[in-house]
Amino acid sequence: MQYRRLGNTDITVSAVCFGCWGIIGGFNWGPQDEKDSLEALHVAFDAGITFYDTAEGYGSGQSEQLLARGLSSQRDSIIIATKVSPNHFREPDLRAACERSLRALNTDRIDLYQLHWPNHDIPISETLNVLDKLKAEGKVRAYGVSNFGEQDLSDVLAAGSPIASNQLAYNLLFRAIEDVILPLCHRHGVSVLTYSSLMQGLLSGRYTSPDEVQEDRMRTRHYSATRPYARHGEAGQERETFEAVARIRDIARQSGQSMADVALAWLIGQPGITTVIAGARNAQQAHGIAHAADVTLSAEVVEQLNQATDALKQQLGPNPDMWQHVSRMR
Ligand SMILES: NC(=O)c1ccc[n+]([C@@H]2O[C@H](COP(=O)([O-])OP(=O)(O)OC[C@H]3O[C@@H](n4cnc5c(N)ncnc54)[C@H](OP(=O)(O)O)[C@@H]3O)[C@@H](O)[C@H]2O)c1
Repeated sequence: MQYRRLGNTDITVSAVCFGCWGIIGGFNWGPQDEKDSLEALHVAFDAGITFYDTAEGYGSGQSEQLLARGLSSQRDSIIIATKVSPNHFREPDLRAACERSLRALNTDRIDLYQLHWPNHDIPISETLNVLDKLKAEGKVRAYGVSNFGEQDLSDVLAAGSPIASNQLAYNLLFRAIEDVILPLCHRHGVSVLTYSSLMQGLLSGRYTSPDEVQEDRMRTRHYSATRPYARHGEAGQERETFEAVARIRDIARQSGQSMADVALAWLIGQPGITTVIAGARNAQQAHGIAHAADVTLSAEVVEQLNQATDALKQQLGPNPDMWQHVSRMR
């Protein structure tokens, strides 16, 4: 495992972070055996993953509770990141949400508290002010944002707030942040934490066509708006997405590595990326995501992967919101 510093904090995190959304199962994930989830958490910890990402929004606290059940005895050896939902950005709501998360997580401090999505109806200065107070009170060690675009991030930076990180959708099949947001974060020492690092399993190598993907996962702008759960209204890029998947599979095969290893190692090696967040739902997947941190890709393979996905990057365009046509990120 590799370990890296989180933004301008004194916190060290593993280069692979365990994403705790999928371990509760349900919408987007399907049935999930709790025993598998707990095993995944234990295997991840034993394999050197010290960083765990969850949110109050994942099953209304269920994911936070499950993480606490799995790793409470390791509390002092792990870094817990959770997120507050945008409807809780006013002081009383934010304080209440923080207390709820502390209880659900069975802890006295949140290592990284993140604003899940921007809320353009509440002045960001008000929310940052509360975060500063929570930090001063010791309830939060560091805070960060998630899904903040160029303007929103610039507003936070202009306020002089010490944000540690920005959590963003980024993977081989979704590279929209590369040209503007990623360099901006890098210049200001803001760690980028990537989510959907395996494109919700598309980069596992298991899928060869959209029809094999479960319907509630076909919500991103890769898929056609005719898919029942898509809300973006775009034509989608299904053909190009699955052609890119096929090209990545070939590159992985030729380099003798699994597709998930190649996809995660490519991401870990991108300039400006501190940590890749990947969701594992059983022991085998947890072992797999941890292993990816020890995989080295040659410069030639990295270039092949860039080329294999360039056309898809162009077709999806610069909108960094992976889910909506009218970007909620500005
Ligand atoms: N900030 C935000 O707005 C936001 C949004 C989404 C996610 N996130 C965070 O990011 C985390 C991860 O992103 P994600 O949930 O979108 O999923 P992801 O990490 O892109 O994909 C997870 C899926 O990949 C497959 N997988 C995992 N390990 C594997 C391995 N070693 N080999 C092959 N396949 C493997 C599994 O698919 P199967 O389920 O098919 O087995 C797993 O459920 C979430 O848990 C959450 O913490 C944040």
